[in-house]
Amino acid sequence: MTALVTTPARKPLRGTVTVPGDKSITHRALILGALAEGITQISGYSRGTDCLHTLEAIRACGIVIEEKNHQCVEIQGKGLQGWTEPCGVIDCGNSGTGIRLLSGVLAGQNFFSVLTGDASLRSRPMGRVVAPLREMGATIFGRKGGAFAPLAIQGAQLRGRAHVSPVASAQVKSAILLAGLLAQGTTRVTEPAKSRDHTERMMKFFGITLDIMDCTVALVGQQSFTGTAITVPGDLSAAAFFLVAASIVPESELSLPGVGINPHRIGIVEILQEMGAKIELHRVREESGEPVADLVVRSAPLHGVRIGGQQIPKTIDELPILCVAAAAAEGETEISGAEELRVKETDRIRAMVSELKKMGASIEEKPDGLRIQGGNPLQGARCDSYGDHRVAMSLAVAGLVAQAPVMITDVECIETSFPEFSDKLLELLTISQ
Ligand code: S3P
Repeated sequence: MTALVTTPARKPLRGTVTVPGDKSITHRALILGALAEGITQISGYSRGTDCLHTLEAIRACGIVIEEKNHQCVEIQGKGLQGWTEPCGVIDCGNSGTGIRLLSGVLAGQNFFSVLTGDASLRSRPMGRVVAPLREMGATIFGRKGGAFAPLAIQGAQLRGRAHVSPVASAQVKSAILLAGLLAQGTTRVTEPAKSRDHTERMMKFFGITLDIMDCTVALVGQQSFTGTAITVPGDLSAAAFFLVAASIVPESELSLPGVGINPHRIGIVEILQEMGAKIELHRVREESGEPVADLVVRSAPLHGVRIGGQQIPKTIDELPILCVAAAAAEGETEISGAEELRVKETDRIRAMVSELKKMGASIEEKPDGLRIQGGNPLQGARCDSYGDHRVAMSLAVAGLVAQAPVMITDVECIETSFPEFSDKLLELLTISQ
């Protein structure tokens, strides 16, 4: 169990930070590339272990993927029905996106497969994808009637149908759309609020026809499509740690080039700006169907805000780091309607409340979120990541404004999304000091 210690930043954070390729987009590029006919090249992909598990899962299904270098992979796609039966159990590691999206694809193949993951993933809800896939004709078994992995899938010819998802979840929507691509007829999915639309954007980029209206997406199954070249933008969820770090460490200024600014992910920027943060978006452009910009952040005094409703799906992964911004801000911040945080890599509400409390923050748990009275100086402490990468990195950033070093235990999990995180943070602290 390795630990990370962050020391109080004594000088401003200045310079340029390049963040890894977007994790969500990388999963989709790998899966759709493997379902396409012919070669797909993916540059700037995420080498976090979450995406590497998806890459290995696809290889286990007989698809050749060549890592050209640390920047680019080449997939020899074999079309919608070209995957072959894996001879072992597929390990999705810690990745909810990996297991849920792959379930959608494997449900529509003509072979048997088993998907599992680490202890955290095996405790996360799978019924939300298993139930709609079964309605399309899939045969899936899992623990507790299919509520938890391991999932054993006997692929079948699926039939398209209309689904209404009770949660705004891009993983659920994407699993259904991927199954719909293999199904006969039309598949439709409606969600209560619009979740990130990377699957829709990438399907369109591959030339797949989709019908999108507000919170409903429909597609006709069995559309074949050809491989293409994809450039993955930098991950805004990784950039978020530096957006907050530079905002709260006085006199900082950081540039973050080439970061994805998908409108359904941009909550972190909008909320930080509402809190008083100085964040600028430069050279807004489009790459492989996704909006991208160069971000510049300068430190600024922050104040508390209310976060809830439609802001939640577009900020879902950034709520832990927003707790840190709120602890450093003046006044009260309240997060509501965020019960989904309880079924992430860990219960992120409980984790952030207990660990920020150890640092002296005035923070209170609510069933659907939390309340933070900002402005209490944070203390040095020994904190636990709960094996959750975003909790670990958020606490590391909190350590920059604490009065003594903060030690975070169990930080191997950072590898799942941002393997270079501690090096980049250390480099900034060293250059800056
Ligand atoms: C993701 C969707 C979100 C997010 C996760 C990545 C995706 O989960 O929290 O980190 O890539 O589709 P839900 O779809 O369950 O909300």
